[in-house]
Amino acid sequence: MSLSTLHQDPGEAHADITSHDTFVRFVPHATFARMRREEPVAWVEESDGEGFWALTKHADISVASRDFRRFTASRGIRIEQMAPDELEARRTMMEFDPPEHARLRRLVQPGFTPKVVATYESAFRTLAGQVLDRVLPLGEFDFVTEIARELPIRLLCRLLGVPETDAQQLVAWGDQMISNADPEYTPVVIDKMDTEEYRLLPFRSPAALEVFRYAEEMALERRSNPADDIVTALLTAEPDGQPLTDLEFKNFFTLMMVAGNETTRHTISHGLIYLLDHRDQLEQLRDDPARLSAPATEEILRSSSVTMHFRRTATEDVVLRGRTIRSGDRVVMWYPSANHDEEVFDSPFTFDIRRQPNDHLTFGTGRHVCLGASLARLEVRVVFEELLRRVAAIEITGPPDRLRSNFINGIKHLPVRVTTV
Ligand code: HEM
Repeated sequence: MSLSTLHQDPGEAHADITSHDTFVRFVPHATFARMRREEPVAWVEESDGEGFWALTKHADISVASRDFRRFTASRGIRIEQMAPDELEARRTMMEFDPPEHARLRRLVQPGFTPKVVATYESAFRTLAGQVLDRVLPLGEFDFVTEIARELPIRLLCRLLGVPETDAQQLVAWGDQMISNADPEYTPVVIDKMDTEEYRLLPFRSPAALEVFRYAEEMALERRSNPADDIVTALLTAEPDGQPLTDLEFKNFFTLMMVAGNETTRHTISHGLIYLLDHRDQLEQLRDDPARLSAPATEEILRSSSVTMHFRRTATEDVVLRGRTIRSGDRVVMWYPSANHDEEVFDSPFTFDIRRQPNDHLTFGTGRHVCLGASLARLEVRVVFEELLRRVAAIEITGPPDRLRSNFINGIKHLPVRVTTV
């Protein structure tokens, strides 16, 4: 593989999508393409479990995401089976169906509407400018650790009301949790060690204990000094006439921190690789950001599909494309596959910053559609606008280092060389 062709390797047609190792080299697009063609509703055996249904078509994933009566989120949203006590201890708004889900989502929704998010733009642009002005003069550096990993967490800290001086620590905990299958980030690798001791914690990760302690301290602080931030909103809210319990608050805090940081950062890293793989489009974007930034952001989001799946559970027998999904079966929705579905996208493997329409499912759809979609869009757009204004030349100097995960399509390191304008 040449340095810049990471996204052009579709892998083999029969890759094991249950294995984190499969995703270390590439997203197995050849496998997803075969599944869309031959078995779009496929029963996938697990080595140590019962198996699950894999949905790979855009239309089916849309149905499963929207039809919460037949496909519930309340029995877990990751592939893993969860015992009832685990589920209860780790439940966030993601694992509720309507109407309970709406009551929780309403607590944080106001800070994430497109209109409100637009007001964060100038602060984020300043933040991005500061980081870029510090890092770009280095000439050679790791784009992930210096830029992509730095930015989303800083904005998130401001929204949550967390001191920015704690950003690095929060990212490190977030890495340990969401990247719990990669030994670079965590000593407790989820599929290689006994994680029984941590089964009641988010991501079965001991780092969650640290985040919980941090959230407790934040709660104490904000109870005596309320502010205009998400932590205060969560602490003062009474969704059912009752405040959130301590555990609900801590799980909510952890969700916001992890969901709002890890995903966007990997999207930014993929975006750079895609643009460098298509230098003509990079130059067009640089020349006309006013017209191309927004569609380029959508194409980066579609092509990278950083969150690779979420799960639902059938509440009754459902026949889909002739296959009978039994009540209680797990149903896993593979977003990278939906986003490359030939029935929805012309030339799906062509990266095209002018693609129109671009009805990708990177943020899911239905009631659980990503709360932070507008924020993520803003961050990706602004980072590339500010970066391209400042660099005359940029190249990748070593192979991108991929995350070991079948959940997050992540880039851990991306060495680059830049010349500033
Ligand atoms: C490119 C970046 C992002 C990607 C790819 C992404 C992906 C997703 C997806 C696919 C879902 C749907 C889950 C489901 O249907 O079960 C989701 C939900 C969610 N996302 Fe994002 N997300 C991103 C950025 C963010 C940001 C910046 C935040 C901000 C805080 C955020 C917070 C959330 C929350 C809280 C939910 C749960 C919503 C609910 O259950 O109603 N995400 N995200």
